[in-house]
Amino acid sequence: MSQAETPSRILYTKPSITPLEVGYATDAAANGWGERCYDYINRFERDFAQHIGASHAIATSSCTGAMHMALAALEIGAGDEVILADTNWIATVAPIVHVGATPVFVDILADSWCLDPVQVEAAITPRTRAIVATHIYGNLCELDALAALAEQHGLILIEDAAEAIGSVYHGRRAGSVGRFGVFSFHGTKTLTTGEGGMFVTNDAELYERVLTLSNHGRQRGETRQFWPACIGFKYKMSNIQAAIGCGQLERIEELTKRKREVFLHYQTALQTHSEISMNPEPAGTANGYWMPTVVFDAASGVTRERLQDIFKRHNIDARVFFSPLSSMPPFSRQAENRIAYEIPTRAINLPSYHDLTPDQIERVVACLLSALD
Ligand SMILES: Cc1ncc(COP(=O)(O)O)c(C=O)c1O
Repeated sequence: MSQAETPSRILYTKPSITPLEVGYATDAAANGWGERCYDYINRFERDFAQHIGASHAIATSSCTGAMHMALAALEIGAGDEVILADTNWIATVAPIVHVGATPVFVDILADSWCLDPVQVEAAITPRTRAIVATHIYGNLCELDALAALAEQHGLILIEDAAEAIGSVYHGRRAGSVGRFGVFSFHGTKTLTTGEGGMFVTNDAELYERVLTLSNHGRQRGETRQFWPACIGFKYKMSNIQAAIGCGQLERIEELTKRKREVFLHYQTALQTHSEISMNPEPAGTANGYWMPTVVFDAASGVTRERLQDIFKRHNIDARVFFSPLSSMPPFSRQAENRIAYEIPTRAINLPSYHDLTPDQIERVVACLLSALD
């Protein structure tokens, strides 16, 4: 293909920002100071908690920060083990390491790419304190099975719902089922504030502890100025970011509906190809479809490298499926997590964003199918 013929670039993701968000952000920048400096933050926390179906929410500078504070609030630390899927972004494990606990990586299920409850059970030891259920790409973990294991063994079930806004598990929104849930509002996410995150919980005591930690250790009701009760954190969201979040949250149905439409377009176009599987949506659940993903079966011979090469030639962003964390330099290889090691070698994430056009989706599909030639 000559340079003159190079089609326009298709990004893998891009936010949808309208005059609503711009108006709120402008108002926050112009007026959200002094006595009004928390207005959008308070509103975003209140409305987000209500949307998720949790009683409490704390807006943060990132999902990573939210997870870090919550683990610290639960006094998870040295000598404790935390079980999570080997398939994860580094952000899920970093806070576990930061608090001094030991991450224990388990294999994933072949269809949901989320942690396998059988492997979780096998990994439980007397030192296990928590299980982190990451709803990867919007796909839901088997929360009933994981909650039962947590209950049986006295463990804390945590939901990493960074990628799962819009996902619903038997009537309960992702993030509202575990002891706490965390969300990401990074620029690539369905709901974005540029950078940002949220901690949610139904546990009033845990909420108070995280609130104190989030305010550099200053307790609510402390009358002395600049008087921390403990060493805390500074992972706050700004009022301007929260203003954008308020606008996005008002549009959340529209934002998640479009994610679904994009996914269904891909799914319909690819449904006759039995060698391709995509994000599942088991009965009784809704997938927020943050990241449409295709996995080619081993017999197809299609590899990640071949997909990357074809996407590059067609000027389409190719985002690779997460490599297992245990394969990365900070950790030790655990090739026995066979599915987590194998799937990324024949998978790719597909572009998905609000303004992606049907023609662009068809271009991606044609590109994908050419990998089978
Ligand atoms: C599964 C998962 N967990 C945690 C995070 C961390 O989110 P943040 O970048 O907001 O800290 C991400 C971010 O992409 C993620 O995908």
